[in-house]
Amino acid sequence: MTHYPKLFIYDLDGVITDTAEFHFLAWQKLAEELGISFDRQFNEQLKGINRMDSLDRILELDPSLPAFSFEEKEKLATRKNEYYLELIESVNPSHILPGIETLLKANKDSNVKIALGSASKNAPAILDKLGLTGYFDYLVDASKVEKGKPDPETFTTAADALEIAYPDCIGIEDSAAGVEAINKANMFSVGVGDAAHLSHAHYLVEDTSALIFENIIEQYQKASLKLK
Ligand code: BG6
Ligand code: MG
Repeated sequence: MTHYPKLFIYDLDGVITDTAEFHFLAWQKLAEELGISFDRQFNEQLKGINRMDSLDRILELDPSLPAFSFEEKEKLATRKNEYYLELIESVNPSHILPGIETLLKANKDSNVKIALGSASKNAPAILDKLGLTGYFDYLVDASKVEKGKPDPETFTTAADALEIAYPDCIGIEDSAAGVEAINKANMFSVGVGDAAHLSHAHYLVEDTSALIFENIIEQYQKASLKLK
């Protein structure tokens, strides 16, 4: 009998909507104020990484900076979030990335459960702004996990909440840390983006318009025997 998945777990930033770009711009603005510059190549390392860990990675770029106390780092992280909130203020359903709503509809029509697996504290609010909350059976955001990506906890938390075995789950991610987390959870990983960063994905597509439900199922079924 062909094996069918029971749960899809979607990353938000860079998969459902292009807020990954806004995170980049907001971090870049904060970094410039601290005299640090970083490019898109370095930014790949920040994708999927929670707020405080991202700040630590940016501060490490300049070893000559004085050590910051926890309170100072909290202030810097809050400042970055303020820049980010300004950028996402006008987010609306037109910002859903190509192919995503079609995929969510096909997902729902097939009675396969849907969860969010995001490292962002802002995730539930963004999903609301996009008008997509109704599709989701369960939301995991930064407040629900202790260990962020690449730890598998974001993905296992969603599966545990819906009582679904990990090999019956498919995770969709645009970040290297996120794909690593899905793989560590013993789930099937779908990467969206460049092979240079996401070669460890079980199935890789170039962009969200190539996320076709039937194709994902087919690839999952080919690999599921190995995952079991
Ligand atoms: C992830 C993004 O989804 O959320 C990261 O890929 C971001 O870039 C992280 O830093 C945390 O987001 P927030 O909204 O809690 O600062
Ligand atoms: Mg992402």
